[in-house]
Amino acid sequence: MFFEEDIGVDLGTASVLVFKKGKGIVLHEPSVVAIDRNTNRIIAVGEEARLMLGRTPGHIVAIRPLKEGVIADYDTTEKMLTHFLRKVLGKRMFFKPRVIVCIPTGATDVEERAVRQATLSSGARQSYIIEEPLAAALGAGINISGATGNMVVDIGGGTSDIAVLSLGGIVCNTSLRIGGDKFDESIIRYVRREYNLMIGDRTAEELKIQVGTAWVTDTNRDRVMDIRGRDLLTGLPKTVQISSHESWHAMQEPLAAVIEGVKKVLEITPPELAADIVNNGIVMTGGGSLLDGLDTLLSHETNLPVHIAEDPVSCVAMGTGKALHEMKTLQRARGGKPPKRIM
Ligand SMILES: Nc1ncnc2c1ncn2[C@@H]1O[C@H](COP(=O)(O)OP(=O)(O)OP(=O)(O)O)[C@@H](O)[C@H]1O
Ligand SMILES: [Mg+2]
Repeated sequence: MFFEEDIGVDLGTASVLVFKKGKGIVLHEPSVVAIDRNTNRIIAVGEEARLMLGRTPGHIVAIRPLKEGVIADYDTTEKMLTHFLRKVLGKRMFFKPRVIVCIPTGATDVEERAVRQATLSSGARQSYIIEEPLAAALGAGINISGATGNMVVDIGGGTSDIAVLSLGGIVCNTSLRIGGDKFDESIIRYVRREYNLMIGDRTAEELKIQVGTAWVTDTNRDRVMDIRGRDLLTGLPKTVQISSHESWHAMQEPLAAVIEGVKKVLEITPPELAADIVNNGIVMTGGGSLLDGLDTLLSHETNLPVHIAEDPVSCVAMGTGKALHEMKTLQRARGGKPPKRIM
C-alpha cells in the first residue's frame, strides 16, 4: 500500500521530472519559478513561469533556483519541489510517500542535505539520494550490477556527469559544471561579438536546438535560422541569420571542455574496465546529448562507439524509478535499515 506512493524525482537545472511507481513519468516541467518581489509570493511555477523568463515587469522575477546542477536558491527550490510534489500527489497526502531524488555527483554534502531537507519539508516520509550517473545508467537500461565496465556521459542543462560504472557503483568519474546552459551562453557571446546583437537565453537555446551542431558536415553546414534581438549600436530590434557552421564555431569552448572531461575519466579508468568500454561503447544521456553531431564528435575524439540512450531526457527520472524497485532488495541487504543514499 505504502509502496504505491513512492516517487522518484530528477531535480535538474533545466527541468524537473517526477516518476511515480506504476505510472511512469507523471510530471515534466522546467525548473523555473516566478516571484512577486513586492509580496515575495510565488506567481507561477514550471512551464507557466518559463514563459515569463526575461519578459516580466519590474516587480515580478522569473528565476531558475538551480544553477549548474546544484541548489543556488534553497528557499525557492523547496517551494518549487513542494508545488510539484503536491501537483503529483494531490492535496490529500494521506500516505506520505518515500521520495528518491537524483543529484549531480559534484554536489557537496551541504547541497545534498539541502535537497533532502527540501524533500522532507515537502511532505516526504523518507528521502533518499541517488547520484545522477547511476540513475542515468539504470534509466538507459544498462545492467549496472554486473562486473563489466560501462561509461555514461550525462549532459544536462547545468552539469555534465561523466562516470565509469561497475558492480553497481561508480569506479571513476568527474562532474563538470558545463552543460546545455553553457552552450547557450557561448552562442549569446558569439552573436554579440560578431553581430553586435543582444539575444535572450530562450532565443539562444532555440538556435542551438534548431540548427546548432557539434559536427559540421556538408549537409548541415549551411542550415540557417533567423534570430531576433536588440542591436547594441542602435538599440533597436534586429534580425540576423545564423548558420549551423557558426553555431559550431560559437560552441567550441564548452564542447572542448566536455571532450576533455571524458578523456580525463578514460585516462584514470582501470585497464580491465577500459577494455569493456571498448566493447560496450559510451552511453550518452541528458538533453544535451541531443545536440546534433555530439555523438559523432565524441566518438571521433575517443575512438569509441557512442550510443545515445533511447529517451535521453527522461533517462534519469526513469532510473530513479528503477532504483525504487530495487529498494526492497537493498533494504534487506542492509539488515532492514533503509539506506539514505542508494548504492
Ligand atoms: N534537441 C536538443 N539539442 C540540443 N540541446 C538540447 C536539445 N533538447 C534539449 N537540449 C538541452 O538539454 C538541456 C537540458 O537537459 P536535461 O533536461 O537533461 O537537464 P537537467 O537534467 O535539468 O540538468 P542537470 O542534469 O544539469 O541538472 C538544456 O540545456 C537544453 O537546451
Ligand atoms: Mg539531469
